[in-house]
Amino acid sequence: ISTEKENGDLLSKSFQDIISTLPKGNPWGFPDHFLQYHGFWHSSVFLQGILSAQQQFQAQPADIIPCSAPKTGTTWLKSLTYATITRTSYDDSTSPLLSKMPHDVVPFMELDHAHFSTHRDLGIPVLATHMPYSALPKSVTDSGCKIVYICRDPKDSFVSLYLFVSKYQKSENMQTFNLDEAFEQFCQGVCWYGPYWDHVLEFWKASLEHPDKILFLKYEEMSDDTILYVKRLAEFIGCPFSSEEEEKGVPEKIVKMCSFENLSNLEVNKNGKHRVRGMENANYFRKGKVGDWENWLTPEMAARLDQITMQKLSGSGLTL
Ligand code: A3P
Repeated sequence: ISTEKENGDLLSKSFQDIISTLPKGNPWGFPDHFLQYHGFWHSSVFLQGILSAQQQFQAQPADIIPCSAPKTGTTWLKSLTYATITRTSYDDSTSPLLSKMPHDVVPFMELDHAHFSTHRDLGIPVLATHMPYSALPKSVTDSGCKIVYICRDPKDSFVSLYLFVSKYQKSENMQTFNLDEAFEQFCQGVCWYGPYWDHVLEFWKASLEHPDKILFLKYEEMSDDTILYVKRLAEFIGCPFSSEEEEKGVPEKIVKMCSFENLSNLEVNKNGKHRVRGMENANYFRKGKVGDWENWLTPEMAARLDQITMQKLSGSGLTL
């Protein structure tokens, strides 16, 4: 314990040294909230976790690392990955996903793990992160472990993020941030782990270079044919469904268990609170639909985001 404390003290000292040099901002209505580190914006708690994970986390070849920018389907990806990898231990009536919320089942590397442990004590070797590819601990990129990335139409990601942050601000009795201002900031790349497009592009390019190491998924395609992508996911992480499992409908059962309808109606996700941040679990399950941006953005706003997306992704071979 004393070594952990010493490491913690050292870390917070080097963290203070590092943050004193970084560009700062207070967007989205949070005072002194953001720091720009190697091109990406972070809140100071998240950034401390990133630096701590970079220094301490030792990935192993069997690890699976679900990666994503916030509000792109992280909760869903965590659930599907966990259910797939644990399917011989649990089924759709015994899975921990039925009694704990997905973020308590699969922790975040920089939010949960890095702050609470200097040891690897993962149990099931699935650990998620919102870190950009360029910020991942070196052991993640070097160890041969598998990365699964999910991205989403930035119009839906922005709306999802804005409404999530607004709920948080209301629950903390803070003034909620105006949609137009938040939109402006998002367009300029200022949001948690933003610029959003740079986050997506880093993983996209890395997935082209290392297709055996990074599986690149899109929320919209997964919504269209979740069973197909769960089979792809299982194969990619090295535990393909056997023909016997397919005959028994195991992939379908996993997809149903992890569906928005099922997870959002579980008691824990309707009325529970997230153990780390006091956030209501229900906030992680809003609508789960493709294209809900239409109810929130004007055609001009949508066109502006589409334009930025086209510009940013041009020549990459990726469309969103
Ligand atoms: P909406 O706000 O558009 O409804 P993240 O998990 O990265 O925080 O992303 C949150 C978004 O994923 C929210 O989108 C949420 O409703 C949606 N979501 C949560 N669980 C889901 C599931 N099981 N299937 C599909 N979408 C889900």
